[in-house]
Order: sequence, then structure tokens, then C-alpha cells
Amino acid sequence: MSTIWEPPDGSHGIEDEAERLVSAEYTDEDLDIDRSLRPRRLEEYLGQTRVKENLGVLLQAAKARGEALDHMLLSGPPGLGKTTLAGVIANELGVQMRVTSGPAIERAGDLAAILTNLDERDVLFIDEIHRLNRVVEEVLYPAMEDYKIDIVIGKGPAARSLRLDLPRFTLIGATTRTGLLTGPLRDRFGMAFRLGYYTAEELAAIVSRSAGILGVRISEDGADEIARRSRGTPRLANRLLKRVRDYAQVRHDGAIDEDIAAEALAFFEVDHVGLDHMDLAILEALVRTFAGRPVGLNTLAAAVGEEPDTLEEVYEPYLLQLGFLTRTPKGRQATSRAYEHLGAVPPSDAEGDRLF
Ligand SMILES: Nc1ncnc2c1ncn2[C@@H]1O[C@H](COP(=O)(O)OP(=O)(O)OP(=O)(O)O)[C@@H](O)[C@H]1O
Ligand SMILES: [Mg+2]
Repeated sequence: MSTIWEPPDGSHGIEDEAERLVSAEYTDEDLDIDRSLRPRRLEEYLGQTRVKENLGVLLQAAKARGEALDHMLLSGPPGLGKTTLAGVIANELGVQMRVTSGPAIERAGDLAAILTNLDERDVLFIDEIHRLNRVVEEVLYPAMEDYKIDIVIGKGPAARSLRLDLPRFTLIGATTRTGLLTGPLRDRFGMAFRLGYYTAEELAAIVSRSAGILGVRISEDGADEIARRSRGTPRLANRLLKRVRDYAQVRHDGAIDEDIAAEALAFFEVDHVGLDHMDLAILEALVRTFAGRPVGLNTLAAAVGEEPDTLEEVYEPYLLQLGFLTRTPKGRQATSRAYEHLGAVPPSDAEGDRLF
């Protein structure tokens, strides 16, 4: 139901399919990588400068007053460091972090058990908080607001309600979909931070730091090359670094420079802006299958054989960020940049002209 925050041990083979490499989803292997690479202090958490500045002040204030930090909502695409940041916050506060997730808390009693086991000022991290069920969510309201919960003991006519005091804790909720959070829940967070994609410079710094921890020799431009293809996502940057390291070890002498990084990433089919099979399939569908016409999400998802949710949460944000895709009221369309990337000629009809 909930665990103390400590990524489990696990070892995995080095041969992975290219497809899994670039998917922004969380894999078992990430747990392995995370153990060593995940930043523990705010100063090790690279990028997200504004969020960090704000947090620095809030943490200092809460510590000075000896109080629990306000409840906090973290949002943003997968792999940008929401869970990591929650861990950093708990560390900086010198408290324990309990980890659970929306779908894991099935009944009100599950949540009550977690809450009553917290210590004063502890952090409770609820991942995928938009997936909490309504009954559980309603137990959370008074817990967040007044640090109290009402639990029902017994059944039938003998049942009675008992009000319990909770320690003053900090709830950190994480979500990839802020839009799916209910209004009442959102309102109960004292602050909300949205994590954005990292710049290539920030990712290069993350790659260099990770290489240092893994004992991999990498040149500055080697780190830049990996950073450019990491879709603005630290999780992917670390994953690509590991693959490039494997490649450099087997095909070369282990050291990574720009050429070797480029060669390795081409080998694993990550293109020079970090697009993978699915991204390219999406663009191909928009450009060729639908010939530049606006396409609805479900239609597009069916065309590429992917879940609409995954398309919207994992693939689209990065294509939007690159300026390869636009969302219009009529549907999704590829931009002239996307046509260029695929080596296709943009349509010259009125619809196309409006876009390009
Ligand atoms: N700011 C950062 N600096 C350095 N490394 C980072 C940073 N953010 C994330 N990472 C690395 O990227 C990995 C993925 O981050 P994390 O698991 O926190 O993402 P997430 O936002 O919680 O993703 P999900 O939505 O899938 O749960 C971490 O294990 C960590 O090694
Ligand atoms: Mg996470």
C-alpha cells in the first residue's frame, strides 16, 4: 500500500529493444538506475531553476519554524523529476517520505492506515493523485485541512464514527494530468509547481553528473549529443547514457565522445532530435495517411496503434514542444517543420497555408 522511499534493488540485462529505450514510461530498469543517480539534495537537482528557488525559500521557512511544509502539488510529463523532487524535499526537511499512489489506495481504511502511521512533519507522497477514488479523496480533505480523519468502527447499528487526530504532515501529490484533478482537491494544496522540459544544457549537466557516478568517461560534446536526443527528459537522458555506455564498451574502448554517442544512438534508432518509432509513426500518419488534414485524437491513436491517453501524455507534449505538431479545434496537424523532418513537401492548400 505504501512504502518507505527506497528504490528496490534489481539488476537487468543490457540488451533492450530500441522501442523501450525511448518510451518516456517508467521501467524496472529505471529503479536500478535511480538508486544511484537520483539526486538527494536540492543542489544536486539540476534545472527547474524557478521551482528550486521558490522551494529553497519555503523549505528554509518551514525548517526555521519547525513546522510541516504546506501541501504541494507537482505536475508535468513523465520522467521530469516529480518523484525525485518529493524525495529531495523530504531529505532537505530531514523527515521520512512515505510513498503510495492513487490507484493503490483502494479503500478509505487504506488511507487511514497510512495517515495514522505518519510521524510529525513526514512527507506523504501520492503518485498519480488524479486516480484517487472519490470515497478516498473525501477522507483526504479533512486530513489535509485539519489533520483529522473520521473513521467508522464496527458494522450495522453498532457502527460508530471516531475522529482521529493526525500528525502535521505534508502531502505531496504528483500528476501528469492536472486537468483530471477535482476542484476541491486542487484547492487544498497550498502550492502547485509545474515541471517543464529541460533545456539541452541542463540535460548535458545531468548526463555529466550521471556519467561521473557511473564511472563513465564522456567528453562535453558527447554529453551534449545525448542531451539533444533526450526529449527534454532526465529519465531518458540517463537511460540513453547507459545504452551509449554499453555500446562504447562493446564497439570501442568505453570512452564516449560526440561521434561515438551519435553512432550509438543511431544504432538504437533514436534520431537526432530524439524521436523514436512512435513519434515518427504519428508524424507519418498526419503527413501521409491523413495527407495534412486535421485529425482527432482517437483517430490518430487508432492509426498508430497506441492508447489515446499515452499519445496525449507521453508523445504529444514533446512533439508540441519541438513545434512539429499543433492542436487546432479541428484536430491535430503536422507543421512545416515536421514535413521537413520527414523530408516531405508541405501541402499548399488554404488549410496548409494558414498553418505554415
Ligand atoms: N532535476 C534533476 N536532476 C538530475 N536528475 C534528475 C532530475 N530530475 C529527474 N532526474 C532523474 O530522472 C529520473 C526520473 O525522474 P522521476 O522518477 O522523479 O520522474 P517523475 O516526474 O516522477 O516521472 P513519472 O511521472 O513517470 O513518475 C530520476 O531517477 C533521476 O535520476
Ligand atoms: Mg514519479
